[in-house]
Amino acid sequence: MGTKGHSLVIIGFGGMGKFHSESIAPVEGVKVVGTFDIAAERQELARSLGFHAYGSREEALADPNVDMVLIATPNQLHKEIAIAALRAGKHVICEKPVALSSAQLRDILNVEKKGKGKFFVHQNRRWDPDYLTVKKIYDEKLLGDIWHLEQHVQGSRGVPGDWRRRPECGGGMMLDWGVHLIDHLLVMIPERITQVFCKLNFPTRQTVDEGFHLFLTFESGTTALVEVTTCNFLTTPLWYVCGTMGTAVIKDWELNGSMMKLDGVETGDVKPIVAGVGLTKTMAPRDELTAVEAPLPRVKADWRDYYRNVLGVIDGTAERAVKNTEVMRVMKLMEAAMESHAKGRIVRFE
Ligand SMILES: NC(=O)c1ccc[n+]([C@@H]2O[C@H](COP(=O)([O-])OP(=O)(O)OC[C@H]3O[C@@H](n4cnc5c(N)ncnc54)[C@H](O)[C@@H]3O)[C@@H](O)[C@H]2O)c1
Repeated sequence: MGTKGHSLVIIGFGGMGKFHSESIAPVEGVKVVGTFDIAAERQELARSLGFHAYGSREEALADPNVDMVLIATPNQLHKEIAIAALRAGKHVICEKPVALSSAQLRDILNVEKKGKGKFFVHQNRRWDPDYLTVKKIYDEKLLGDIWHLEQHVQGSRGVPGDWRRRPECGGGMMLDWGVHLIDHLLVMIPERITQVFCKLNFPTRQTVDEGFHLFLTFESGTTALVEVTTCNFLTTPLWYVCGTMGTAVIKDWELNGSMMKLDGVETGDVKPIVAGVGLTKTMAPRDELTAVEAPLPRVKADWRDYYRNVLGVIDGTAERAVKNTEVMRVMKLMEAAMESHAKGRIVRFE
């Protein structure tokens, strides 16, 4: 179809399907030509927005004028629809989590290998400004070597009461948010992961995980804590990044926060402070003689580059921004995290 433009169908026109239809609209080289959803009201909504609502998934996949399919259904359907679309010769963008397991992803990739359609996973949070800020701090060593970092995503409203509460649909927060946050760390830190420890949490006794604490150890000794909670009424910072030359805190998605960096000459002469009912030199805060507070670096990014990259890969003009090998590694890491929770111990990885 080349630069003339690609024709895309969205399967699953719920919250995210509609969001994609709006987000893709300004992107050159692709047009949403239709949708399919099993819910009559979503079909009606699609029609009211000017899209052709196909009568069935099969009808959409059989349309020779369509060369791309975007899957935005509940998670348990991703594998089946992806394979059907690839077999129909279409390129596929699949929502995250790509599937329910690494084995399911392998099945999809085996079908991709045999056909002409390319398979992509929508890891849009690679373009999150908070993540890109931390990645810049990491890549450019703005705080020296990062020896520990934490990412905390905290809410108080529980797991949404739709399919996300059903284990057979791939519900739960590990597959929902874990897949993004683990992807962040695995892409940013180019090292083997040696140890995985995870505790899922179930504060309101749901049958899917309502959140988790995941602790990763990288080959160099760098550690990372990923926290997702849905029963947390006051939040800690979104990011806490510790380097050998300073610390950064990003409080929220509006990128409030700052860095405290070593600056000046260490005299070794520290006055003890009163902390609680005791004295401490070790924990005395820095003063302006040895450290300076600096604003967070700013990173410019346009997440619609995700779609542009997909189009570029299809047209042979770009390298994949999100590689399926990376997606597979995240799936395997989530499986190691589940195993760690089940066994109550550290699991070796890689
Ligand atoms: N990348 C992101 O930022 C992000 C954000 C939210 C959701 N998601 C992902 O998007 C997917 C959809 O999530 P959502 O929030 O839009 O859910 P949703 O419940 O709002 O929408 C799902 C839609 O799929 C439809 N559907 C169900 N079975 C179908 C079938 N067999 N064929 C066609 N349509 C079917 C439902 O009727 C519904 O309209 C999930 O995989 C989710 O993890 C990604």
